[in-house]
Amino acid sequence: TGYFTFDPGFMSTASTRSAVTFIDGDAGVLMYRGYPIEQLAKQSSFLEVAYLLINGELPDQAQFSAFEHEVTHHTMMHEAQKNFLHGFHYDAHPMAMLCASVASLSAFYHDTLDMGDPEQRRLAAIRLIAKVPTIAAAAYRYSIGWPVRYPRNNLEYVTRFLHMMFEVPSEPLQLSPVAAKALDLLFILHADHEQNASTSTVRLVGSTGANPYACVAAGIAALWGPAHGGANEAVLKMLAEIGDAKNVGKAVEKAKDKNSGFRLMGFGHRVYKNFDPRATIIREMCHKVLADLNVNDPLLDVAMELEQAALKDSYFVERKLYPNVDFYSGIIYKALKLPTEMFTVMFAIARTAGWVAHWLEQHLDPETKIGRPRQIYTGSPKRDYVAIGKR
Ligand code: CMC
Repeated sequence: TGYFTFDPGFMSTASTRSAVTFIDGDAGVLMYRGYPIEQLAKQSSFLEVAYLLINGELPDQAQFSAFEHEVTHHTMMHEAQKNFLHGFHYDAHPMAMLCASVASLSAFYHDTLDMGDPEQRRLAAIRLIAKVPTIAAAAYRYSIGWPVRYPRNNLEYVTRFLHMMFEVPSEPLQLSPVAAKALDLLFILHADHEQNASTSTVRLVGSTGANPYACVAAGIAALWGPAHGGANEAVLKMLAEIGDAKNVGKAVEKAKDKNSGFRLMGFGHRVYKNFDPRATIIREMCHKVLADLNVNDPLLDVAMELEQAALKDSYFVERKLYPNVDFYSGIIYKALKLPTEMFTVMFAIARTAGWVAHWLEQHLDPETKIGRPRQIYTGSPKRDYVAIGKR
């Protein structure tokens, strides 16, 4: 009983106040702490954006250097944590390994589990931003049977990650500056997106007072689904299945048929109903990467044909279904030679900054209450128990 507002999918419920990220879905506006995403994409770096999200202001040079130094010196993974990875089957999905390994951090860092202490909360946030790329790269290398590479402290965040992924002993990694720049840009664009499903999950778990490693592991689990962060992996699988630009028409027709169970992955968004500003930025970078790295990928032709076909089709136009950020990110990741299974892991590395910013904000908010939605009960009315032999 009780009279509650019925709001499946929380389409019209504001679950919290937040000063982190602003989105105007109709106007295609996205700002972190008031800074338009277009300016951050052009002028900032992922680590600076992470600082901004967490602290609310852009750092001056000294603040940035101190932050970078601290993050860099928390990148090591505890040696015993490798045992977790070694417990997985060789073909385990890296998202499964990442989720479990991040949850396990709470067993390694008891000293940052006093949620009432702001310094311990800050340290946990730094540890998460620092260690998630190390765990992600280790999970990948385990899955292909390569030994784990330790983080190189003389490199900056994104380049360090690429080294941990791809470096082979005694063979220096030839990295194109465009590749590092593209990955940094993707990380900036994915760093936060206000109360999306995974961030809301982090906050819901956080509202119970759970530790930040458990909260972020729950966020990773929520991100994994194909309707959320799993979409970038699903886009690539879909493009490969379509296979050739001449098959695009058939795929569009199938996506319009509700009985087919097939949707165009990388199209549509809960909030952006005109265009996704991140998709506009990333589309440009996508072409630059393919040109600079000299990649001639037939899947890009399929993607371009699909984009054009859907933008012209009244079904997609009427429902305001435009390519979203994940439509292009998968193609860039592929050009950077990242395996498809790692695409959602990339999203998780970047979103960790947003998750911890929201978790920290939640702990400073006097209005924070345990998250406890209500329901409309549709089950049986009261009835009496019948012994098993008499049923
Ligand atoms: N292909 C075909 N039809 C679609 C699609 C699609 N990708 N997306 C929505 N529709 C249709 C849907 O069938 C419905 O039609 P009708 O009104 O006739 O019943 C209408 O459009 C509205 O869809 P909805 O499911 O009510 O919209 P939503 O706001 O609940 O869902 C979404 C948003 C992103 C889950 C959905 O558009 C979708 O499943 N897209 C594909 C997956 C995807 O690309 N996800 C990544 C989102 S962006 C990255 C992130 O933030 O995680």
